[in-house]
Amino acid sequence: MELTQAVKERRSVRKYEERPVPHEVIEEIIEAARYAPSWKNTEVPGFVLVESPELKSKLASGEYSFGFTFNRKALMNAPQVMILTYKKGISGFEKDGSYSTPKGEFWEAFDCGSSAQTFCLLAHERGIGTVIQGYFDDAKLAKLLELPENIGVGAVIPMGYIGEDNKAPRRKEVSELLSYK
Ligand SMILES: Cc1cc2nc3c(=O)[nH]c(=O)nc-3n(C[C@H](O)[C@H](O)[C@H](O)COP(=O)(O)O)c2cc1C
Repeated sequence: MELTQAVKERRSVRKYEERPVPHEVIEEIIEAARYAPSWKNTEVPGFVLVESPELKSKLASGEYSFGFTFNRKALMNAPQVMILTYKKGISGFEKDGSYSTPKGEFWEAFDCGSSAQTFCLLAHERGIGTVIQGYFDDAKLAKLLELPENIGVGAVIPMGYIGEDNKAPRRKEVSELLSYK
């Protein structure tokens, strides 16, 4: 699939086929996704695949998403949920633990965004739909998933073979987005 086509055709997908994405395919995606750019190539993002129905229904309960119920359907419907994680205190930090720039911890989220989009595009290329979910309670979720202290949650991404045909929401025109100086 051509890159421009993939970028334009990828949609947030919230309905999936029941069959899970095989681990070989997940591993192939991560093998390519690890080439996403990161702060000083620190590669702080990581991936945890949630497949257990018990964990998935806990994720969908609302208890881990500040009660934001819109996300429940996709979480329940998805055969798998990818949790994008990151190592804390490295991206955007100096070795002594101080911030490298006035943007502080911003670069951790930036690196997660870079990895998330790369992951979603590689999934799309394989007919796998994803939706990045931003409504999650980091602390509660980290506890549920038994993540070590130094690992944070960057995004919750339900995924599965595409089970709906979504139209692209309206996008801004190039003239609204781009300016020259
Ligand atoms: C940081 C971020 C957080 C998002 N959070 C949610 C979410 O909690 N639930 C959801 O259904 N979609 C969520 N989305 C998906 C957006 O709604 C979607 O990308 C946008 O409407 C454009 O649609 P498209 O991805 O199909 O092009 C999120 C996307 C991003 C990048």
